[in-house]
Amino acid sequence: MASRILVTGALGQIGTELVDALRKRHGVDAIIASDVREIEDHPVMSSGPFHLLSVLDEDEMRRLVVDNQIGTIYHLAAILSATGEANPELCEKVNVGGTKVVLECAREHNLRVFAPSSIAVYGPDCPSIAPQVTPLNPTTVYGETKVVGEQLAVYYWMNHGVDVRGLRYPGLISYKAPAGGGTTDYAVEIFHAALEDGEYTCFVREDTRLPMMYMDDAIRATLDLMDAPADSLGDARGGYNIAGCSFIAGELVTSIQRHLPDFTCTFEPDIRQTYADSWPDEIEDDVARREWQWSPAFDLDAMVDAMFAGLGANLD
Ligand code: NAD
Ligand code: SER
Repeated sequence: MASRILVTGALGQIGTELVDALRKRHGVDAIIASDVREIEDHPVMSSGPFHLLSVLDEDEMRRLVVDNQIGTIYHLAAILSATGEANPELCEKVNVGGTKVVLECAREHNLRVFAPSSIAVYGPDCPSIAPQVTPLNPTTVYGETKVVGEQLAVYYWMNHGVDVRGLRYPGLISYKAPAGGGTTDYAVEIFHAALEDGEYTCFVREDTRLPMMYMDDAIRATLDLMDAPADSLGDARGGYNIAGCSFIAGELVTSIQRHLPDFTCTFEPDIRQTYADSWPDEIEDDVARREWQWSPAFDLDAMVDAMFAGLGANLD
């Protein structure tokens, strides 16, 4: 029976931790990691099977699926918001085109799929606390590709019976891999700058509030969603809202200063402020809580403590 797992975009911020979690759960050889690039000494490449794969290469994807008896794809390959707005054609090609390739392959070979969405599906007309169901009018190309991704997921589920599931991840904060070119990257970069330089220049305003989440919560949500019985999932299956912790950039600085009182942050907003301003402050995750018992474990201070511990900081 085809029971192995293929992870696309596995060398990125999420893949670095998801591959590790999946290998611990299912065994090293059961998880085939892939990415369009190679990174020397990357733990995902050195800890188990790895293949170079562009998600736009339909034939190679099919070959990998058949040769490795793949039963599930975790599809993480994408271009994130800041990189995507700088190169909208590439963003659309990879995010929409790659998702179509994965879903077609899933239809042909009866695969299960995890395909993440984002808080970027929302636009400026959304309430500041975003409900699961509301008009989705993003003003970024990245956000548009994520809306299309959710629609494709629901289409393939309804019309072809493909078991596709997705989460609208908030901005993810982690220490094992760099953030991959998004608007929420400041909430990752700030920790490295605080430890290395004692100061950081933040590219969004001090009062910018966004939904965020510590990576441990995101990985647990991913695995829990994929474990949930299919009949417990409703119309949100293409992109469940999951809330972690929401904070303004200034509150992040204050929380960091609990450990590093001399740390300073200045605020010099750039174009990424526009993208941040178009997204909600918080998200409502009542549907995920009800349908598959989602609940986050990390608030702002717990996340900051875990980041410093993970970075090996010797702090009081
Ligand atoms: P990332 O940028 O860190 O990693 C993406 C990976 O995809 C990279 O390793 C890159 O090399 C790879 N990639 C790019 N083009 C490819 C192609 N053509 N074929 C194969 N691989 C390709 O991103 P991430 O943070 O790990 O995000 C993974 C998914 O989660 C994406 O769909 C993203 O939109 C979503 N997401 C992430 C966040 C976050 O804060 N990290 C938040 C919301 C949603
Ligand atoms: N963290 C992601 C970004 O900023 C949101 O999807 O692009």
